[in-house]
Amino acid sequence: MSDFPAQTDVLVIGAGAAGLMCASVAGRRGRSVLVLDHANKVGKKILMSGGGRCNFTNLYTAPENFYSRNPHFCKSALARYTQWGFIALVEKHGIPYHEKSLGQLFCDNKSKDIVDLLLAECRAAKVQIRTRCGVSSIEPLEKGFQVHTGLGEVRCESLVIATGGLSIPTMGATGFGYDVARQFGLNIIDTRPALVPFTLHQRQLEQQGELPGSALAVTASCDSGSFNEQLLFTHRGLSGPAVLQISSHWREGQAVDFDLAPGRDLAQWLGEQRAERPNTHLHSALAELWSKKLVQYFLQQRKITSLPLKQYTQAELKDIGEQLQHWQLVPAGTEGYRTAEVTLGGVDTDEISSRTMECKKQPRLYFIGEVLDVTGWLGGYNFQWAWASGHAAGEVA
Ligand code: FDA
Repeated sequence: MSDFPAQTDVLVIGAGAAGLMCASVAGRRGRSVLVLDHANKVGKKILMSGGGRCNFTNLYTAPENFYSRNPHFCKSALARYTQWGFIALVEKHGIPYHEKSLGQLFCDNKSKDIVDLLLAECRAAKVQIRTRCGVSSIEPLEKGFQVHTGLGEVRCESLVIATGGLSIPTMGATGFGYDVARQFGLNIIDTRPALVPFTLHQRQLEQQGELPGSALAVTASCDSGSFNEQLLFTHRGLSGPAVLQISSHWREGQAVDFDLAPGRDLAQWLGEQRAERPNTHLHSALAELWSKKLVQYFLQQRKITSLPLKQYTQAELKDIGEQLQHWQLVPAGTEGYRTAEVTLGGVDTDEISSRTMECKKQPRLYFIGEVLDVTGWLGGYNFQWAWASGHAAGEVA
């Protein structure tokens, strides 16, 4: 292509959330910036995010909402470009938004509003963007890099890798960023799909019967993680925010513990029900908490026989309460990168400056966004990391 620049100050590979943010910030500093993406359009994950309404940040973003081998790494960037910074940008562009729950901010209309915002910022900063452009190799020069792309060769002073993680390959995800990291001798923290539904064994699925589509509020716990959110039964297994969140803590073979009546002492509640209506059967009493289908399933799973409440001793009610507030299940696995929202692990943050996102071993090479070993909870945190890390690199690249 004749108008493909042979030279640019900053080359950003990956026109996703982090790459476009970084490009616009660098461009506003007067740097010439070129962004390349192999996909046919920019910001595909933004477009599909938040059920089409992009949960673009979280009001309560804090370093505690992120997983990383070094939990301190994300602090500097998150403190310098906060959720309030991005909210101000959203308001500057007149994008209507609302808080759904737990501080999660969503567009009122479409995720495309956020892509349009980033493109407008890039236009204002004179950033050039090329899609359908892959990169075949990167050569370090004495100062900067020579990059061979599908559209030609380009020389740059600063090279920013913003190619994201491995989740949803059909949306253009690749391991390119990890390959570049390896090329420059950087350590990679093992990657695994996260914010991902659980699959169940065939026998477990058969026991679920008519449950798919049913949901209830639970506390899901595993390892050191615990989340109060909705659990959803699906045809393949378990999903819903509680499962997506806890999947980041789960490892193969581990049991997940579900409190099916969070915030309640079930044994005490059943004791009260017994005093008030002794002839009521256990399943009818529990139908005040969950649908009949769910009650039947939980009682069957735990082999609990439903009798009139007066026939249970306090010790038996305590045992029933225990079983339903610690409903343990070992998932068969997860749905994997095919449906995972994010990738845990990635480029080891020990290799990167937490202030600038520059690689310590290779001057002028930057890694931002999900390609790094920084992964947020469900709820807008992953985009906030993309904005913050992109901003940090854009200020110096
Ligand atoms: P991102 O994946 O956005 O961008 C990477 C870019 O690099 C892509 O455009 C890709 O095409 C390009 N690329 C990859 N390999 C390349 C190569 N070899 N050559 C050239 N280009 C290449 N988060 C959140 O906070 N709120 C939400 O609502 C959601 N919702 C959500 C829904 C779904 C279905 C998914 C899959 C994910 C989310 N997320 C989310 C997570 C969020 O989308 C994710 O964390 C960010 O997009 C990461 O931003 P990055 O810029 O790092 O990567």
